[in-house]
Order: sequence, then structure tokens, then C-alpha cells
Amino acid sequence: MVPEKPFPPDPIAALTFPNPYPFYAELVARKPLYLDDALGFWVAASAEAVTAVLASDLCRVRPPAEPVPRALLGTPAGEIFRHLVRMNDGPLHGPCKQAVAARLASIGEAQAATASRHWARCLAEELRPADDPGNLAGFHLRLPVYTVASLLGVPADELRPVAEWIGDLAPALAPASTPAQVEQGQAAASSLLELFHSLLAGEGEVAIANAIGLLFQSHDATAGLIGNALVALGTHRDARERVAADPDLLPALLLEVLRYDPPVQNTRRFLVRDGVVAGQRMREGDTVLVLLAAANRDPAVNEDPERFELFRQARRIFTFGAGAHACPGDALAITIARAGVERLILASLDLERFAATVTYRPSANVRIPGRPAV
Ligand code: HEM
Repeated sequence: MVPEKPFPPDPIAALTFPNPYPFYAELVARKPLYLDDALGFWVAASAEAVTAVLASDLCRVRPPAEPVPRALLGTPAGEIFRHLVRMNDGPLHGPCKQAVAARLASIGEAQAATASRHWARCLAEELRPADDPGNLAGFHLRLPVYTVASLLGVPADELRPVAEWIGDLAPALAPASTPAQVEQGQAAASSLLELFHSLLAGEGEVAIANAIGLLFQSHDATAGLIGNALVALGTHRDARERVAADPDLLPALLLEVLRYDPPVQNTRRFLVRDGVVAGQRMREGDTVLVLLAAANRDPAVNEDPERFELFRQARRIFTFGAGAHACPGDALAITIARAGVERLILASLDLERFAATVTYRPSANVRIPGRPAV
């Protein structure tokens, strides 16, 4: 059992805490939308506030004065960033989202399941994560990239370097990236652009950037889903026994993990002009930290939210976002995570031990168990 620590100092520090959920529950009950003076952000925690922020026309995915982070301007990583559906509002977003959704839809469910299982088996054979838990993070970080990249047509012998490049690029594009991470991301961005220009010859730069975008959108978040599902199995004996007896319960387990201990804990919005959001007057340029993980635990939308319930009725999950920028990869993420968790159960990973000793990788928005690896 991980010993309880006092509350984290703020909602960003919370996400790598052993148990951030009492802190989130306190925010939902007492400060559903507040200005965090130390962070300099508004923080939306309740289901109502989170829903209102994600639906507001005043709230954009990038600060209006800085559509591309200054540190990335004129760099290969900036070239990818500026075209991403995830990072654009306005006229580019709609058509771009349709193109991304069409690319994902062209991958059939059966094809995605077959690829996920294949790469889960190969990676388990290569990394032996059950014998060497130091390799576990490598397993769950590589599996989503191997699967999505292979489905996008990347040849098998390029998957390892692609996973490494994505592992370098993702931190460079994340909020609060350091200069060293930005620098490391540039070489990776150049290599990815070169590979995808040849793979998708004839397609424009927006399509190429968004194909690369699918890889890093899946990378951390799906890795976190696999890792947090292992923690849930190690912690909740009843769920573990049920899933062991009937592996077809894994999708139900993953849905409850997405609510109860989500890989993506927060996202951000930026005010495009002065106005009222969720009943609160805000100013142009203000930042809102949207606590998806706290909203999942709001008793107003999920009854008895602190209970891990495989067969929960009318579950509300905020983890894939909502509104115009809602995640188009939710089904694919669950397919990949299912294959990963299934494979680790087959490999007889000691789930209880894993859950009892888990630590989280440093991040400002994604909760991923395991030491840095890949
Ligand atoms: C458990 C895994 C995943 C989680 C929790 C997750 C979560 C999210 C969230 C919260 C957003 C919206 C962010 C915001 O509005 O600020 C998002 C957007 C997005 N996700 Fe996912 N995601 C996951 C896996 C994937 C996968 C596997 C793919 C594709 C292969 C994907 C592709 C995308 C794309 C393209 C967007 C941008 C959509 C837009 O801006 O319109 N995601 N994801």
C-alpha cells in the first residue's frame, strides 16, 4: 500500500501524486472554478465548470498571441505543431478534423485489434516486462506508436526509430517543455517529417503533420491507460479476479479506469477576449486549466465516484475531452490498451507488486506509471 501524503501544492503537481483524488474531490466540493494565484491560471474542476469551459466560444486551444510556442517558431517541431488539428481553432479546424477522422475511420476495428495484438506479442517477447519491470514503461509507451504507425503504413523495421522519435518529440510539444526537451525534439521532428513525406508522397503538409500528430496523440495517453489499468488490476482484487475469469471484461475495466484514474488528467484553454465563462468573468489571454480527472469524480455526474465499479451504470467520462476538440481516437485507444493489458496478464506480470510500488513519470498533463524508458 502506498502511504498517503498530504495534499499536493497545486493541480499540476497532483497528477504524479500517489493519490491525487482526495485533493480533486476537495476542489469539486469547495472550489469548482477558482483562480490559482501561484499557477496564475483559472482552474475548472467540477463537471459543470469543465463542460462549460470546453463548450465556450471564448476558450481556445492556444493563446491568441502565440498560436505556435515561441521556442518552436521556425523549427521542424514548429512546422508540425502549427498544422495540428489539436492546436488550431477557426476555419482550419473543421476540415482538418474531418480528414483526421476519415483517416482513423479507414482503419477497421478488426485490423486495429490484429495489429495491436501482434505488436503487443512482439514487444513482450523483446522486452520481457514481466521478468524485468524496468522495461514495463518501454512496453506501454512503444505499443501505441508501433500499432498506429504500422496501421499508417510505416514499415516494420522503421517502428523502433519512429517510437524513439515520438518519445523525443512529445515532450517538446507538451505544455511547460524545457529548452533541452525542445532541442531534443528538433532532430526527431526532422526525421519524422522526412519519413512521412516519403510515405505520404503527394499529400500536403497539413496531412503529413496530422499523421505524425496521430502518433504522439496516442503515445503518452494510451501508455497511461495501459499502466493505470495495471494499477487498477493490482489494487482492486475483485476486478482482477473477474477479468482473469473472463478477459472479455477488459473493455469494461478500461472504461472505468478512464473515469477513475485517467491517463489524461487535464487540458488547457486560453481566453480569446474578455467575457464570462462558466459564470465567471475572465480576461483576454487568461489560461484555464481544465481538470478532466476531477470532473470524472464529481458526484453530480457519477454516483459514489470514489468506488471502482466495473459495471457502473450511466458512467460519465471527461477523459477524451468534449466539444469541437473531443478525441477521435477513443475507440482505437481502448483496442490498443486491451491488447497491451491482455498480453501482460498472459505474461504473468505481478500486478499487486506493480500497483504497490508504482511511481509516475514527470508530466504536466498525463499520468503514466513507470520509470522513464523507451
Ligand atoms: C487513452 C488514450 C487517449 C486519451 C485519454 C486521449 C485524450 C484526448 C483529449 C482529452 C483530447 C482533447 C484535448 C483538448 O480538447 O484539449 C484529445 C484530442 C485528440 N486525440 Fe486523443 N486521447 C487518447 C488517444 C488517442 C489516440 C489513440 C489517437 C489517434 C490515434 C488520438 C487522437 C487525438 C486527436 C487527433 C486529437 C485532436 C482532436 C481535435 O483537436 O479536434 N487520441 N485526446
